[in-house]
Amino acid sequence: MGLQWGDEGKGKAIDFLASDYEVVIRYQGGHNAGHTIYFKGKKIVLHLLPSGIFSPETVSVIGNGVVINPVELLKEMKAVENSGIKLDNLILSSMAPLILPMHQKLDMIYENSRYIKIGTTKRGIGPAYEDLTGRRSLFVKDLFDRDIFLRKVKPLNEYYNRIVEVYGGEKIDMYSYVDSYIEAGADLKKYTKDTVYLLNSLFNKGKKILFEGAQGSLLDINFGTFPYVTSSNPTVGGIFTGSGLSHKALDKIIGVTKAYTTRVGGGPFPSELTDSTGEYLRKKGNEFGATTGRPRRVGWLDLVALKYAVMINGVDSLFLTKLDVLDDLDEIKLITSYKDISGESKEFISYLEYIESVKGIGNSFPGWKERTDQVVKYTDLPVNSKRYIKFIEDYVGIPVEFISNGVKRDQTIRRSI
Ligand code: IMP
Repeated sequence: MGLQWGDEGKGKAIDFLASDYEVVIRYQGGHNAGHTIYFKGKKIVLHLLPSGIFSPETVSVIGNGVVINPVELLKEMKAVENSGIKLDNLILSSMAPLILPMHQKLDMIYENSRYIKIGTTKRGIGPAYEDLTGRRSLFVKDLFDRDIFLRKVKPLNEYYNRIVEVYGGEKIDMYSYVDSYIEAGADLKKYTKDTVYLLNSLFNKGKKILFEGAQGSLLDINFGTFPYVTSSNPTVGGIFTGSGLSHKALDKIIGVTKAYTTRVGGGPFPSELTDSTGEYLRKKGNEFGATTGRPRRVGWLDLVALKYAVMINGVDSLFLTKLDVLDDLDEIKLITSYKDISGESKEFISYLEYIESVKGIGNSFPGWKERTDQVVKYTDLPVNSKRYIKFIEDYVGIPVEFISNGVKRDQTIRRSI
């Protein structure tokens, strides 16, 4: 699970962990996600496919909480298959809500007309989830019967065209996309199942299940920096609503965090660095959006925000990524409290007017000025990097169990905790 604003390195973390599990499930978000994995030396970015697909024995499930653009999903599947990866163990929920072309159009219209620009990925994610709570959604299963699809999509298309008209946009002809959706449905059908019963039966058989979060806790619709958030629950509740498995299926939560912080799109960012150190970290960490290519905003690790994310998710241990990006810095800072005109606080209050007004303050640490990307054992890490990690652990109250020190799967240090 991501504990920041997304892009924490969840793809790498899941790929590292996946071989220990028999099932990997994506449970929320859509193709706004970009999970980067280096497979046999090649960079592959996954948007909808679970990061378990690189472990051939693992069953990879796209759960009912994920919003699906079937045409984009098929494109991604073909690209992955062309890289030599087999998708025989992929399963798609028949009850995943669809992203339709009007959702993407509306995403753009809303974004352009908004006083506050959220900086969405323009993939139609927000409007697709709006249709779910508005009780208008179509589901993957609707793609398998043209009559049912047409019966449901016609009033929806009319509904959306009325909105598009108000904004002065061009109406969408439903027949411009119906065929491509039905064809995509025919191709996806063999992967599709009722995943709620399937997952519960796998769980009851004692299979080891790994849940793959998308986006991050601070982008959560309920707990994030609203309105600069995504439209789903990347926090722990999303696991249940997006899979149909109950709390009994969870015995451990691993939270992924970078050794610093990044954010794509608008919104508050109390530890942001807009100086040359920020520029340096963006370059060294290759901080450009995996989905949109946008430069990511960069800042110090914000322990106030991290502790909040650990608290609301009940995180058991941390997977700390990109430690090596900090290797050459003379000085590194950790944000330990927020300051505004009313004083200092150690609480992350997600109310926009508050979180926008605070400045992160904290402790400076001397850098370690040594390469860490070749280190295999925790004990061999530079002393100052271990002090940095210890400070994080003491502040948030849980151990750092994994440290990622490079893009490759084997550049991961696992500690016994
Ligand atoms: P949406 O999810 O496209 O509606 O975008 C809403 C906000 O979430 C924007 O600030 C996006 O940049 C951000 N966002 C969505 N998905 C991701 C992701 O996978 N990583 C990082 N940020 C994301």
